Amino acid sequence: MSTQALKETARALVAPGKGILAADESSGTIKKRFDSIGVESTEESRRAYRDLLFTTPGVEEFISGVILFDETIRQSSADGTPFPKLLEGKGIIPGIKVDKGAKDLANAPGEKITEGLDGLRERLEEYRSLGARFTKWRAVITIGAGIPSEYCIWANAHALARFAALSQEAGLVPIVEPEVLMDGDHTIDRSFDVTSRTLHAVFTELRDQRVHFDQMLLKPNMVLSGYDCPEQAGPEEVAERTLECFRRHVPAAVPGIVFLSGGQSDEDATVHLNAMNAIGPHPWQLSFSYGRALQAPALKAWGGRPENVQAAQRAFYHRAKLNSAARSGSYTPEMEKLAA
Ligand code: 13P
Repeated sequence: MSTQALKETARALVAPGKGILAADESSGTIKKRFDSIGVESTEESRRAYRDLLFTTPGVEEFISGVILFDETIRQSSADGTPFPKLLEGKGIIPGIKVDKGAKDLANAPGEKITEGLDGLRERLEEYRSLGARFTKWRAVITIGAGIPSEYCIWANAHALARFAALSQEAGLVPIVEPEVLMDGDHTIDRSFDVTSRTLHAVFTELRDQRVHFDQMLLKPNMVLSGYDCPEQAGPEEVAERTLECFRRHVPAAVPGIVFLSGGQSDEDATVHLNAMNAIGPHPWQLSFSYGRALQAPALKAWGGRPENVQAAQRAFYHRAKLNSAARSGSYTPEMEKLAA
């Protein structure tokens, strides 16, 4: 795979008006999502739900890529077409989550380290043969009393860079995801400080491990007030603080920043992205790689019932369309009410 092809894939994932659907919930996480709508999580119910999302008519106008989970990349649509092939056929780029989850970090109470580097080179080969063209690895940084430690930040940054280097070697575009969790009562200033320390470590490790910045994407949190903080920053402040933080740390060679939603409401995630794009231009494309914020209305509308598939697809299409508008700063709250 030429470096040119990797650059093109990275740029295609952040093409104007388009963003990424994160549909890579692990078995544990998708069970939690299904529990919330009273649906049993089985291999077939998970397949049917992902099938619904991927076959949504016209959603390829707004969705450039989909992140799959190990089980999902091996599954097929109702007509027998493997999911990666189905997505490619719609002009949507298939990707794959390759980390093995965040586990307790030794000697660091309350902190996590993401596992999955052992055997990764071989797994990447297999995922490429199954049709993946990009990869994702999520690190988790928690804000609390006396944490995060520099130890936790740098251990995770090192692993992210090892993942990114291996992905590029395998001809896959890495999406580097250092997620600073926004759970807690911390202020937006503390979010700024921790996100800043995290991005400093991540880009130092990426550079030291010779990762090509023009052949990767960054998937970060936005800089928000902790969800339980009594004082909540408004969209303009969120946009300004997030951009200030990223301008300090993210090289202009990185083609795009694709935000995670991280537990924001679907509307907040759209409003915040829109506010950032409304004050552009920026050195990088600013886009979305949302899981919950793209899927929440569809999941609710579906409720596990085949007769609700079309309503769920309409809900997903509508949410994708609104986030597409936020890519150019042209979203307005009135658009929420317009039917898909
Ligand atoms: P959320 O948008 O729900 O945070 O999910 C994105 C993701 O891929 C987390 O790893």
